[in-house]
Amino acid sequence: MKVFKEKAALTAYLSNNKNVGFVPTMGALHPGHISLISMSVAQGLTTVCSIFVNPAQFNDKNDLINYPRTIEKDLQLLEAAGCDVVFIPEVSEIYPPNTEMQQYDFGAIEKVMEGEHRPGHFNGMANVVERLFGIVKPQFAFFGEKDFQQLCVIKQLVKLLQLPITIVPGKIVRENDGLAMSSRNMLLTAEERKQAAGIYATLCLVKENKDVYNTEQLMQLAQNNFKHYPLINLEYIQFAYADDLAPLKHNHSNSAVMMFVAVRIGKVRLIDNMLIYG
Ligand code: PAJ
Repeated sequence: MKVFKEKAALTAYLSNNKNVGFVPTMGALHPGHISLISMSVAQGLTTVCSIFVNPAQFNDKNDLINYPRTIEKDLQLLEAAGCDVVFIPEVSEIYPPNTEMQQYDFGAIEKVMEGEHRPGHFNGMANVVERLFGIVKPQFAFFGEKDFQQLCVIKQLVKLLQLPITIVPGKIVRENDGLAMSSRNMLLTAEERKQAAGIYATLCLVKENKDVYNTEQLMQLAQNNFKHYPLINLEYIQFAYADDLAPLKHNHSNSAVMMFVAVRIGKVRLIDNMLIYG
């Protein structure tokens, strides 16, 4: 496995390769990230993983300061998964002094949920992903459905910039109790970690009852169920269409509808989602 810190060296190394699969990450890797690496490896691609905690996408400075960094373990996991290339740039390599930030217009999909609750997050995320795409120039890029709205924004970015990159989604990888794996989970106390399983339990409860109640009642069911987990502070629960993330106002039609949840547990913010109808 080759490790690069400089973008010019990485671009040169990959320049004649037309078979590149790319998995951008912020490190503190877990089986969710590794599932994306494995998808790329299984497709026979030269698999590139980037590890870069992108300051531009953190709307909360403490979240950036506290973000876990486990680089030695990350490298071991990537090596074991068959990753070919790792890119670990310094901030100055991605954002040289006087870098102009791009301002994108992703339309309605960036104005709801994470877009609404984390101002500037998607713009900062898209800035780094555009830069990383420019450095790695992959044919395929892999993104997890755990961050479903991010995946939608990335698809929009590729369309907007007309990039010749196929975006491949990966399923959510969960812990045994259903909690979606996340680098931030390791910041939870033991009791917080226990209660965090309530997120998945609530999504499952809603899904189990999708044919029993209408969506307003399902929303109520979810809100009531969260009361069993006093350490969970609900930020939002939202039903939205899977294709355009438009909020579901009344009862669903035949389109796929998902439920999205964002919570705070102690100092940690977690998100999750599940397909409910369709
Ligand atoms: P990060 O949170 O490190 O996630 C990197 C990739 O792993 C994302 O595509 C994310 O959706 C996926 N992922 C995380 N947890 C997962 C899980 N439990 N199951 C499946 N996939 C999972 O997302 C980012 O970094 C950044 O925003 C980034 C795209 C790297 C830009 O900075």
